[in-house]
Amino acid sequence: MSDPVLVTGATGNTGAPVVAGLRGRGHRARAASRHPDPADADAVAFDWSDDATFAPALTDVRAVYLVAPAGAADPVPSVRPFLHLAAARGVRRVVLLSSSAVERGHAGLGEIHDLVAGIFDEHAVLRPSWFMQNFVGDHPLAESIRRTREIVTATGDGRLGFIDAADIAAVAVEALTASEPVGEDLVLTGPESLSYPEAAAIVSEVLGQPVRHVDVTTAELARRLASAGYSAEFSDMLAALDGRIRAGEQDLVTTTVRDITGRTPTSLRHFLAGHASRLASSP
Ligand SMILES: NC(=O)c1ccc[n+]([C@@H]2O[C@H](COP(=O)([O-])OP(=O)(O)OC[C@H]3O[C@@H](n4cnc5c(N)ncnc54)[C@H](OP(=O)(O)O)[C@@H]3O)[C@@H](O)[C@H]2O)c1
Repeated sequence: MSDPVLVTGATGNTGAPVVAGLRGRGHRARAASRHPDPADADAVAFDWSDDATFAPALTDVRAVYLVAPAGAADPVPSVRPFLHLAAARGVRRVVLLSSSAVERGHAGLGEIHDLVAGIFDEHAVLRPSWFMQNFVGDHPLAESIRRTREIVTATGDGRLGFIDAADIAAVAVEALTASEPVGEDLVLTGPESLSYPEAAAIVSEVLGQPVRHVDVTTAELARRLASAGYSAEFSDMLAALDGRIRAGEQDLVTTTVRDITGRTPTSLRHFLAGHASRLASSP
């Protein structure tokens, strides 16, 4: 069997299917988490805020799936030393999860994009649109659907190409294992571009109950996110992203998932139909 691929964020929306996808193809996947599964012989303790966990996780690793610490005000100080250590330990390929809203060089994930591209000849940066999982998990959007049957955004009618995290993971598995790199800067979307009012209509249909879209200002959205427990800085950042959706910047559909994996990306309707029970009650 080949050297293991280290999967950070292995319990998360994309990391979990990346681990499953790698193992399903006969690759070793070392699942990194702050709470590694004791039943998984290839799980490893890993914490971005504890650099003593980096070296053991990187032992014999040839490729890394990198999910930067989410919600951190500035992820760069913890990720930079990890990347330099990874290169020194012989890691050849890094596949970074970023966002369609973050260009190379932008603060945060964009700086990590820059670092990955500068350090590793073999790299891919996945830049997905918004995850369909936001409608059913512990995201504020999902909580609001469950609690008040409302989707509150500051996007107006602005459209975006919602994507299933499983499709992102399928691209990641290819990018981690293909003999040649599959591409360096990959903007990933689902099959269609939808507004939140359109998404609310689909949610209503699948749920069999009306769910309405509530359009608020970015300031109001930031206030609501902060009262849901996000830091003020992170709330402002998320709300500002909604402003960019409103302006039409994220109204795009790419063919990258199909081009790289051969699979048709999941539609929002199909995804929600498969998770209908999670729309109605807590996961
Ligand atoms: N949600 C979206 O719509 C969207 C869209 C585009 C891009 N993104 C990007 O996708 C990334 C993942 O977001 P997500 O919401 O889907 O989260 P997620 O991957 O479902 O969950 C976060 C993962 O990170 C791990 N983690 C968190 N803090 C950690 C720490 N200190 N040390 C080690 N591991 C840690 C968690 O593992 P343990 O708890 O097991 O340690 C968990 O597996 C973010 O960078 C986000 O910007 C999200």
